[in-house]
Amino acid sequence: RAVVRSAIKKNMQVMGVRRGYNGLINGDMSEMNIRSVSNVLHRGGTMLLTARCNEFKTEEGQNQAVEVCKQMGIDGMVIIDGLVVIGGDGSFAGAQKLANLGINTIGVPGTIDLDIACTDYTIGFDTALNTAVEAIDRLRDTSESHDRCSVVEVMGHGAGHLALYASVACGGTACWVNEIGFDVDRDVIEKINSSIRTGKHNFIVIVSEGITDVHHLARYIEEKTGVESRATVLGHIQRGGTPTARDRIIASQMGCYAVDLLEQGIGNRVVIQKNAKIIDYDILEALTMKKGLDRGLLEVNQIINI
Ligand code: F6P
Repeated sequence: RAVVRSAIKKNMQVMGVRRGYNGLINGDMSEMNIRSVSNVLHRGGTMLLTARCNEFKTEEGQNQAVEVCKQMGIDGMVIIDGLVVIGGDGSFAGAQKLANLGINTIGVPGTIDLDIACTDYTIGFDTALNTAVEAIDRLRDTSESHDRCSVVEVMGHGAGHLALYASVACGGTACWVNEIGFDVDRDVIEKINSSIRTGKHNFIVIVSEGITDVHHLARYIEEKTGVESRATVLGHIQRGGTPTARDRIIASQMGCYAVDLLEQGIGNRVVIQKNAKIIDYDILEALTMKKGLDRGLLEVNQIINI
C-alpha cells in the first residue's frame, strides 16, 4: 500500500506482481492505482498472493524474469525500472540476482521469524508475536485451573526470536530455542521440580518449531515431574490476522523509503530498521550476516521466569 501510494505520488506507474517471482516469470501483473490498495491496511495475508518459485532459482528463470521486467508494462512499452521485493532471505537472494542482471531492486523485510540479520525488525513479527501471546495466555488459564504444564510450539523456521519474545511476554518456565545450549533434564525437569518446591503449580514451556516433538516432551515432563501436561502446536494461526499498529506503521515507513531509493535510481539495497531509524543496507552483505538472539532479552528471560 505504501509502495503503491508513494510511487504514484511521485508520478511513477506501479505494477503489482502476483505470486512473487512466479508472476515475474509469467508476466502475471497488473497496474495498481491509489484505490487498488484501499481497505488493505487492516488485513493480513497478501492481496498480491504469494508462492515459492523453484524456476526462479535457475539461470533461465532469472533471465526470463529480467526479460519480463524489461518488456512488460501497462501498454507493453513501459520499461520496469525498479522492483520492490517484500519477503525474507530467500526473496532477497532472488532480488540480489535480479539486481546483478541490471534491475534496480529494493528488498523490504517481511517475515514473522525476525531472522534477517541486518535489521532490528521484520514486518509481521509483532502481529505473529501478539497472536502467539494471546494463544499462550489462553493456555495458561487452563494450565492454572488444572495445575498443568502446557508445552507450546511456536514458529520461527529455525530461529528462536518468536519463542524468546513469547516466553518473556507470557512467563515461560522454560524456553527451548536452537541458539542456546539446552538440556531438558536441567532446563525443564529440574526447573519445574524446584518451582514446585516454591509453591508453583502450573507451567508454560515454549519450544521453537523443529527442535523436538512437543507431544513427546509433554509426556516426558508428566513422567518426570508428576505434573499433568498437554502439548499445543500453534502452527499457522500465527500467520495472518489483523496486523498490529506497529506492523502497519513500520510497513508504511519502509514502503515509502523503498520508493525514495528507486526514485534516486538506487537498487541492490534492503530497507531496514536500526536503532529505531529506517535506513538501507547492501543486499549481498545482508545475506551473509547471521542473526543471533537478543542477549539482553535472553538474560531477562532467565532472570525473571523462575
Ligand atoms: O517463514 C515463516 C514461516 O511461518 C516459518 O515460521 C515456518 O517455518 C514456515 O514459514 C512455514 O511455512 P509453510 O507455510 O510453507 O508451511
